[in-house]
Amino acid sequence: MDIKVIEQMVEQALKELKTEQTQRFSLSRPENYGIFETMDEAIDASEEAQKKLLHSKLDHRQRYVEAIRSAVLKRENLELISRLSVDETEMGCYEHKLIKNRLAAERTPGTEDLATEAVTGDRGLTLVEYCPFGVIGAITPTTNPTETIINNSISMIAGGNTVVFSPHPRAKRVSQTLVKLLNKELMDAGAPANLITMVEEPSIENTNKLIENPKIRLLVATGGPSIVKKVLSCGKKAVGAGAGNPPVVVDETADIEKAAMDIVAGCSFDNNVPCIAEKEVFAVDSICDHLIHYMKRNGAYEMRDEALIQKLIALVTTEKGGPETSFVGKSAEYILKRLGITVDNSVKVIIMEVPKDHLLVQEELMMPILPIVRVSDVDTAIEYAHEAEHGNRHTAMMHSKNIEKLSKMAKVMETTIFVKNAPSYAGIGVGGEGFTTFTIAGPTGEGLTSARSFCRKRRCVMADVFSIR
Ligand code: COA
Repeated sequence: MDIKVIEQMVEQALKELKTEQTQRFSLSRPENYGIFETMDEAIDASEEAQKKLLHSKLDHRQRYVEAIRSAVLKRENLELISRLSVDETEMGCYEHKLIKNRLAAERTPGTEDLATEAVTGDRGLTLVEYCPFGVIGAITPTTNPTETIINNSISMIAGGNTVVFSPHPRAKRVSQTLVKLLNKELMDAGAPANLITMVEEPSIENTNKLIENPKIRLLVATGGPSIVKKVLSCGKKAVGAGAGNPPVVVDETADIEKAAMDIVAGCSFDNNVPCIAEKEVFAVDSICDHLIHYMKRNGAYEMRDEALIQKLIALVTTEKGGPETSFVGKSAEYILKRLGITVDNSVKVIIMEVPKDHLLVQEELMMPILPIVRVSDVDTAIEYAHEAEHGNRHTAMMHSKNIEKLSKMAKVMETTIFVKNAPSYAGIGVGGEGFTTFTIAGPTGEGLTSARSFCRKRRCVMADVFSIR
């Protein structure tokens, strides 16, 4: 054989070996801490990790959950991700990100959420257990990027799954920082590498690759209407958490001073980016002035000039009427400054009285702008609130002491979360009972997601024995 041909064959063989080694190295290289160049690599590594997780004990999984909690709760990490999140996305408020990230770490349920059902009788014992889907593809938003990654990671890993994140491209840096921090802590706790992965350069193209990859057994989308629609129509099992437009009703029986305080606090929390936050108010005429008075005493700036309201609309909405992205999650102080109005940061929300069909009422803007609609009576308020929510069935609030009307609104709205006499965030466990989540899956019905939402129910039957009654 010609020496040149032999040389070429050796060179080719060495090249192939090197590629294989590089691939193997990049999959197992711990210093990647879950970050991969391509989506295929991120998914393959996740699949490898899930096989290991599948055979680990529940106790171990709980240890991994605790590792995630502890990574986030280290002061320097909590401050870093909260700061980076605001800096990169230019949305929300640092102090509130601290609260939300801490909340996600502390109040997302772990493996205890996977309650087994058992049926026993003369024909034996049947168990129904929550089991992993496998590798989950999770799409996360720009509005709550780190909160969603922390919350999803705990729930999904507790359920025995691994997760490949496709963060919103405008939150890629902070998402990467967090994924690395979590993997490092997980590996220190003895977990397999790559329980959580993502690509270096999140993009629409990479999200499409995630959606299409057959190794992804379940898709979870927390985000704007367009990405949720895309995931729900992809032909795979999907959990979708999308838009709302949460209304608040205040009737004449409410504690008006408290209602005003609660509404301002909920609406201004993280500059209104939580999808549960108060977006419009329907107040009964007899208490409406009173409510506005107390809102102003608690940090509301009232706009009464129609020309100014039009200027505000021109500034913060697009031609199509939706939110202008560069104003999503900005503070009231910032928005007012752009209109030439200087206030200090004691101003938390911008309020104005408008008719019910007004753009500011009907569009979800995710900014601390809170239109108030004056109505004749509580039944009309409930009817208008139902209309303004557009059937999203996401979240609604009511301030009232009338049990019948509270019950009526709860029934009419059909929302996943209904908060009575408290700020909206009581619905996700801040000042209210219950666990937390940042993926509120109204459209697909899981509601406030937790470990069991990302599991398959499987039945295991032992015939004729093990009923000890
Ligand atoms: N990865 C890749 N692409 C993504 C993505 C992700 N994680 N999230 C969204 N995209 C895509 C969208 O599909 C869309 O693609 P298209 O133009 O082909 O339709 C594109 O990015 C732009 O979407 P988006 O960033 O949502 O548009 P926007 O800049 O106009 O809107 C917001 C910004 C903040 C208004 C919008 O993202 C939003 O409504 N977010 C709310 C999210 C949320 O918190 N939902 C509630 C969950 S409980």
